[in-house]
Amino acid sequence: MQSNMYSTFANDYDQAIQNNIYNAHFERPSLQAMLPALEKLQILDLGCGSGVYAEYLLANGASQVTCIDYSEEMVQIVKKKAELAGLTNKVITYSQDLLLGLPNEKNESADLVISPLMIHYLEDLNLLFQDIYRVLKHKGMFLFSTHHPFADFKYTKTGNYFERELVEQEWKTFGKPIPVKFYRRSLTDITEVLTKSGFSILRITEGKVSEKAKEIDADTYKYLSENPNFIFIKCLKV
Ligand SMILES: C[S@@+](CC[C@H](N)C(=O)[O-])C[C@H]1O[C@@H](n2cnc3c(N)ncnc32)[C@H](O)[C@@H]1O
Repeated sequence: MQSNMYSTFANDYDQAIQNNIYNAHFERPSLQAMLPALEKLQILDLGCGSGVYAEYLLANGASQVTCIDYSEEMVQIVKKKAELAGLTNKVITYSQDLLLGLPNEKNESADLVISPLMIHYLEDLNLLFQDIYRVLKHKGMFLFSTHHPFADFKYTKTGNYFERELVEQEWKTFGKPIPVKFYRRSLTDITEVLTKSGFSILRITEGKVSEKAKEIDADTYKYLSENPNFIFIKCLKV
């Protein structure tokens, strides 16, 4: 389970992603560009982290955001931010392993489900994707981002792109190297679970790093301008 790292470094993560390249100037603007109009929407944010998406969704008209994360520390950060902003009536938070699906959420209760950069921590996507379909209203959308399957293939030990594989790495996001584990899976693996769960895929993109990233680190900007890193998938419940 990867979430230990996110629990230990919850506050550091919150600080790190405010203005970094990968989240603030690549992932978030890319996913946000694919969101529908947010006014009056009931939204689920799965793997909400420290709540940067909840802040954005509410600032842009969402009527309620339910934030779920495995890490209780992350959930507490979201709760505190909602209290400080006077938004406790619009933010619901709880911690739960999303591998178990969405047992606390009612059928056809959400207009939109987002899950930025979380699904690669789950070995099996079937239960979660089936439950996302169940809790979405008719014509509801599911939008998520994850590691690009092609980018992750460079870490393979099996050499078999089509075989799901646990990847172990060290990340230096918070200064010192921290061991991380996530699942590498093929594009087919992701899209088959979506369509088997009932979703129609509306759009797949690879995102775009913002020009602002150039001022922070020209080499990373160049790398992300020329290489796949994340993938963004928007689906519809029909
Ligand atoms: C890369 S962070 C992304 C956070 C947030 N979506 C964002 O974009 O800033 C991944 C998040 O997924 C959560 N997570 C990892 N595995 C999970 C699981 N099995 N169930 C629920 N949340 C999980 C972590 O605790 C962490 O907060």
